[in-house]
Formats: sequence, C-alpha cells, structure tokens
Amino acid sequence: MKILLKNPGQIVTVNTSGRNFKPGKSMNDQDILTNHSIYIENGIIKDILPNSSANRIKADEIIDAENLLVLPGFVECHTHSAFAGNRSNEFLMRLSGKSYEEIAEEGGGIISTVNSVRQASYDELIRLLAPRIKNFISQGITTLEIKSGYGLSYYDEIKLLQVINYYKKNSQIDIIPTFLGAHTYPPEYKNDHKEYLKLIVEELLPYIRKNNLAEFTDVFCEKTAFNPEETDLIFTKAKELRFKLRLHTNQFHSIGGIEVALKHSAHSVDHLEVINDGEIEKIANSELTAVLLPGVSFFLDYNYAPARKLIDLNATVALSTDFNPGSSHIADFHLMMSLAALKMKMTAGEIISATTINAAKAVGMNNILGSIEIGKQADFALMNAKDISEIIYNIGNNLNVMTIKKGKIIYK
Ligand code: NIG
Ligand code: FE
Repeated sequence: MKILLKNPGQIVTVNTSGRNFKPGKSMNDQDILTNHSIYIENGIIKDILPNSSANRIKADEIIDAENLLVLPGFVECHTHSAFAGNRSNEFLMRLSGKSYEEIAEEGGGIISTVNSVRQASYDELIRLLAPRIKNFISQGITTLEIKSGYGLSYYDEIKLLQVINYYKKNSQIDIIPTFLGAHTYPPEYKNDHKEYLKLIVEELLPYIRKNNLAEFTDVFCEKTAFNPEETDLIFTKAKELRFKLRLHTNQFHSIGGIEVALKHSAHSVDHLEVINDGEIEKIANSELTAVLLPGVSFFLDYNYAPARKLIDLNATVALSTDFNPGSSHIADFHLMMSLAALKMKMTAGEIISATTINAAKAVGMNNILGSIEIGKQADFALMNAKDISEIIYNIGNNLNVMTIKKGKIIYK
C-alpha cells in the first residue's frame, strides 16, 4: 500500500540523525520542514520530499493533511490505565488536609484500587479500558504503555496483564505491557514481605515470561513500598528472564532507587520529584531516561521534578500523564505539555522531544518510532496549530484533529 500525506503545514520531524542522540536538548530549526510531503509504503516512511517532487509519486491513496501541523505520533510511556473503581473519596480527604502517603498507610491508596480490581472480572476490565485507549488516540497518541500493579496476587496480576495484552493484539496502536507486581505489598503479605517477593520472583515473573505477557518489569521503590534491596532482588531475576526494566523512584524520598536502576541498566527512572544534585548527575551521565510526571505534582499539589537541571546537564527527559486513579487521575496528555512549560520551565522544543523520541526511548522503541524519519513507522499526530507553541498555549483544548498509525487514519 502506497500512501502520500500531502499538503501539511509545518512538519516537526524531531530528526535525530546527524545529531548526537542525546535528546532532551531543545530542537533546532532543522527539525521543522515546510512545503514537504510524506511518502509511506506498508506503514513505513519511505521518503520526505518537497511538494514539487511529490506530484510525481503514484500513490494508492492520498491523505490530505489540510495544512495541519504534523508531528510524530505521541508516545505515552507511563500509565496505569487498567484499573477499576475510583478514588474520589480520597481526593476529598486530601482536600481536607490528609496526605497521599497517610491515606496509603491507612489502607487506602493503591490498595483501595487493588480491592476494586480483584472484584472486577476480566470482561469488566476490558470494558473499562476501551474508552481510555480511545481517549488517548484522540489526542494523537500512537504508542501507549500500560502497567499492571493493581492485582497484587498471582491470579489478579495475570488477569490485568491479559487485559492489557488483549488490547496489544486488538487495538490500532502499539501497546506496551509492563508488569508492576511490585507496586506495594498487598494486605495478606503485610507481615511477610519475603513470601510476596517469593511469589513475584519464583512464580509470577517466570509465568509472565513463558506466556510473553509483559515486555518490562517495573517496581515502586519507596519507603511505603519496596526498598532498594528488594528492588535489586526483583530486578536481578527479571533481567535474568530478559525483561526490560523501569523504576518508580524518588517520588517521596530518596532511598537509593536510582543506583539500583543504574546497576541493572534499566530503561528509565520515573517520578524524581525528590532528588538531590548527585542523583541528577548520575542520571545525566547514564543511558537512563528520566520520565517526569507533572500531572502527579499537580494532582497531589506537590513539588515538580527538576526538569531544567536534568536537561541542562544533558539528561534524556520524557513526559507522561502517569494516568491512574490515585496520584494523577488526569488523562490529558496535552495538559502535561503545558504544565511542563509553566511549572518545569521546559521549552516547547524540549517538550516535543520529551513526548515523542525520548518517550520512545523510555519504552525501547526509539529505533522504530518517535520521529518523522525515513525507515520509521508512519505514526503522526495532525494538529490544528501553526507551530508547536500553540500546543502548550492552548490549555484544556485538544488541538489534535487526526491520528495516523502506520499510515492509516485511526482518528479523525
Ligand atoms: O506512579 N507511585 C506509585 N504508583 C502510582 C500511583 C498509583 C496509585 O495511587 O494508584 C504512581 O504515582
Ligand atoms: Fe506510575
């Protein structure tokens, strides 16, 4: 199938070639093309050519880009979208002064969603996830990571991963399943952490590998969840089983998670709201992608991760909603971009890199998507904007009007 995407406004390529691929740097003018068309064959970008030569191409199909701003399809690299129930009661408790951590210590928080997920059937979870994926697609997202982590038993973690894998097979976008069985200790193992670790390491990880239910293993390294030694134990086994690794760390306390992520060559460290200068330097001097989640800071009314310091030291920074029922009940990807500008002082160019190529790097897909380059997947977000500044300027307004995945219009 030969497709020509004709008549775009600006094309923001986020081109990585010829540059030392250390994204997180602001983009420069070379990354913006005007008067160009994109030629696609079998879902892959075959050429990016001046309009004058595009007329000679014989395509099976022409997509009129209607003078819209063309961006690489967005990569939403960190979500907990597969859940049941809601925690609006906890939101009210927080408004009257209780903290997120206090609520968790009293048996609410993650455990409250675990109770809802355990009660929900596979079919119910499938039904709940569908509109969430649809909503992301309508915002120009063409690659989406989804974590388990609200089952926390053998049966319920596998149930959640099967739900996510159902959409990996049956949705129009790339879905990346991540196993987060180490999200927190479930009540039945509250006084027997060793047994729960055994369940993860000896039963869940091998089963998930054998049935290919997850690409990544993630852990929440935090005082109220898993300490660095426990994280190390899980990562050691996960790596042995060829899982790629991610880590929730430095959300409330700096307890040594970054060092464990470095030791095991994890793909990313996520959160980083509480981080010291030494840790920032370690990330900047490594291959880790720092996945920053401004929705969490906004939703919990808490500090923002130091994006500026990270980027100025040349760290790779990605952005995500962290969409989940407790710490960021916000599925608005574009709001994250505005928050990154307003609260983290990221430039428009840095924000585009952070939501495309750098986010692709966090999920290990930067070689096949995340930028508009020959040989990459033809994934695009077409927005009703003349340039990228309008995206962050329009708060609460979805400017995406067309989403294209592997050359096919999946939202218009
Ligand atoms: O990324 N920090 C740990 N996990 C999630 C929140 C999960 C929840 O509150 O349900 C996060 O913020
Ligand atoms: Fe998260």
